[in-house]
Amino acid sequence: MKQILIKPEIHSYDTFHTFAAEYALGEQDVILTNEYIYNPIMAAEDLKCAVIYQEKYGTGEPTDVMTEAILEEVRKYDARRIIAVGGGTIIDIAKVLVLEGADRIDDMYENMAELKKGKELIIIPTTCGTGSEVTNIAVLNRTKLGTKQGMVSQAMFADKAVLIPEFLGSLPYKVFATSSIDALVHAVESYLNPDATVFSEMYSVKAIEMLLEGYCRIAEEGTEAWKKDAEKYLIASNMAGIGFSNNGCGAVHAMAYAIGGKYHVPHGESNYQFFVPVLKLYERKVTGGKMAELKNILKACMVNGGFGGADSDESAIDLLRSLLDKVLPAKKMSEYGVVQEDIVPFAQSTVDNQQRLLKNSHVPLSQDEIQAVYQECL
Ligand SMILES: NC(=O)c1ccc[n+]([C@@H]2O[C@H](COP(=O)([O-])OP(=O)(O)OC[C@H]3O[C@@H](n4cnc5c(N)ncnc54)[C@H](O)[C@@H]3O)[C@@H](O)[C@H]2O)c1
Ligand SMILES: [Fe+2]
Repeated sequence: MKQILIKPEIHSYDTFHTFAAEYALGEQDVILTNEYIYNPIMAAEDLKCAVIYQEKYGTGEPTDVMTEAILEEVRKYDARRIIAVGGGTIIDIAKVLVLEGADRIDDMYENMAELKKGKELIIIPTTCGTGSEVTNIAVLNRTKLGTKQGMVSQAMFADKAVLIPEFLGSLPYKVFATSSIDALVHAVESYLNPDATVFSEMYSVKAIEMLLEGYCRIAEEGTEAWKKDAEKYLIASNMAGIGFSNNGCGAVHAMAYAIGGKYHVPHGESNYQFFVPVLKLYERKVTGGKMAELKNILKACMVNGGFGGADSDESAIDLLRSLLDKVLPAKKMSEYGVVQEDIVPFAQSTVDNQQRLLKNSHVPLSQDEIQAVYQECL
């Protein structure tokens, strides 16, 4: 059984300036980014490469329609490398841009086993969440299906992942919060995955420790404190990415895609909805084993960070809920527009479209149990 795969090589630089010089960015490159990420840091470099701003092709997280339009634009250049500088939205689109052959996203989903890479891919994450720089998945909203779905292929691994904390300077607090909660969900779902190995667990646990240490500082000092730990969050989200890249996320991600697809709730926020309720469900279904170990890890991290006392009776999951509330107050699904009539179709869509993720759940969940969690979160 495979124990761990870490791909690609991971580099880090203090500044984009040093990276641009070392990688000799030039006419052979296309940068995919957002204008408000490009202007404060990259514009000063007077780069000779083409620059594509994703927001000109649509707002929000990636859809098949947006990605096809950007693909058409990229084909106008004779680029050897795609440089993705952005959050998971930019990164996931860029993974599709390096594929050769098909023009239609639907065809790519149908022939995932045949996908081939035609260009080099260099990824610089600017949120501290997805870990997408070390995974071979791109998650797109398939507009005809009305849900988000992962496209998975070895051809979508980056050639280099580059961590440059300088980019996090412009990150709005809300995006920091939702993306880092996404990273925490990656670490926890990967840790609880029945296929986790001692190697993948090492990355998941380290990520959990680093994220919770930062969250405890936020609880104590206020939300601005995240900036002191920006580099730590960037590394933690990468490590969480290594964990789930090896065995996959589970029920929380599976359930998030239906609401993300229909109501365009940002990925980290939709995951946050179901994170604690799914952990509580696991807690009710299993005693001992990995779930008990996870609770020990969570509790130790929070107590060490000064959040909650070692002797407190509060369960680790309830304590985690209180800590997450300090980072970002949780919302109900109805606040995003979800109505009672969505609950049954959401549960059905999760079972029909997200088996890739559901099979990684800590313990199998029935459609009724999934529906009950949606109901609880309404
Ligand atoms: N492929 C994977 O392995 C994987 C894993 C998890 C999530 N995802 C996907 O990633 C997407 C979410 O990514 P995300 O949470 O990173 O958010 P995002 O990329 O959607 O970014 C959120 C917002 O923050 C802005 N932003 C990003 N970095 C910024 C910066 N440094 N300064 C100022 N603004 C900045 C973006 O332009 C955007 O408006 C979802 O589509 C999700 O499905 C993919
Ligand atoms: Fe995620």
